[in-house]
Amino acid sequence: MLRIGVIGAGDVARKLYLPGIHNPDAGVVLQAVCDLVRERAEAVAKEFNGQSVYTDAATMLEREELDLVFVLTPLLTHPPIVRQVLQFGKHCYSEKPLTLSRREADELMELADQNKVLLLCAPIYPLLPTVQFIRQIIVNGALGKVAFARAHSSHGGPERGTFHTDPGGYFLSEKSGPYVPLYDMGVYALTLLTYVLGSVKRVFAMAGIAIPERRIEKVTEPGFAPYTIKLTTRDNGFVLLDFGDGCFAAVDASFCMRYNRVPSYEFYGSHGSLTADLWRDEIWLVSEVEGFHHPEGWYRLELPDEVKERERKLWGDSRPTMGLRVVEHFRQCLAKGGLSPIHVSRARHVVEVMEKALLALETGKVQEVESRLDG
Ligand SMILES: NC(=O)c1ccc[n+]([C@@H]2O[C@H](COP(=O)([O-])OP(=O)(O)OC[C@H]3O[C@@H](n4cnc5c(N)ncnc54)[C@H](O)[C@@H]3O)[C@@H](O)[C@H]2O)c1
Repeated sequence: MLRIGVIGAGDVARKLYLPGIHNPDAGVVLQAVCDLVRERAEAVAKEFNGQSVYTDAATMLEREELDLVFVLTPLLTHPPIVRQVLQFGKHCYSEKPLTLSRREADELMELADQNKVLLLCAPIYPLLPTVQFIRQIIVNGALGKVAFARAHSSHGGPERGTFHTDPGGYFLSEKSGPYVPLYDMGVYALTLLTYVLGSVKRVFAMAGIAIPERRIEKVTEPGFAPYTIKLTTRDNGFVLLDFGDGCFAAVDASFCMRYNRVPSYEFYGSHGSLTADLWRDEIWLVSEVEGFHHPEGWYRLELPDEVKERERKLWGDSRPTMGLRVVEHFRQCLAKGGLSPIHVSRARHVVEVMEKALLALETGKVQEVESRLDG
């Protein structure tokens, strides 16, 4: 039986990780739920069949036999909690961003290594069949030499959504860092682009405050009263990436993009282009390369039948939650070994790119990125 522990019983836990995770018939038990707010931990345990409840992570880690611990706490709280999980010798999955600094990411990577445990990190894009397919098409040469990519990794801001228990903190530098849309949203694009195009060699960024006051209108907690907040973090900006060999990418990471009709990812090469809308699982390709060429030019790509069949076998007709995908992937890692595409080394590289983007903001100068991805 795979015993799961969860630290942080907030919005993402309830919506994207815990539904369906406790399934003893499939060999998975939600063993323990921990949140600083006891009522939240209790409510989540009740809703998702959690077997025990804690308000202190160390106590949970000491008392419970756990095979995998999910860290689902707010943006800047991950490093000390992940460190604790690893120190207790447990396999760990961390929500993004793992850390804000490469130094801390290195330290966590080493600790996982020393304790011979896996440290897997969000975003899980490299586990998604659509993203794997995009990579396969590009690696197989459908675009020729890739020269440019563009990614929209933005939204209109968390203040009007029903995600996050209280999104106010997302606008405060002291709570969530100096350019929150980068760690909150840009991290998705950086993960996908590095998965498809490899290591980033150099980075530049521009960012500022575009909408300095926000009205927090909706949160998930009962008894909430709307309030206005003055921003102390940058809410708008973009990052330029150099992958070497003349290949560049532009990524927007903003809380100022309320409406948008363009595909989230675009790749341009010497012999073709590909666009992808991940929300709709829609991939379009135009290619001059034999085997990919279509007489009408642009055409919509479908996932290969064997991939659809594998997905159907695993999940039936429903879309799996992130939690279910991580558990399945974790089992595969234990059974087969090999380097996971969501291994901490990718998060570490992405963290360094974000840290150097911040340095570029401060200095106005392009920054070299030192870490490299394997493979
Ligand atoms: N909400 C989303 O839609 C969403 C989507 C993708 C990723 N994420 C990521 O998920 C993480 C959590 O986001 P969220 O929206 O669920 O936040 P949230 O504020 O709704 O929930 C976080 C929970 O963690 C608890 N917590 C904080 N410190 C703790 C500690 N030391 N020990 C135990 N519990 C602690 C808080 O009490 C809270 O209940 C973030 O890293 C975010 O980037 C969120």
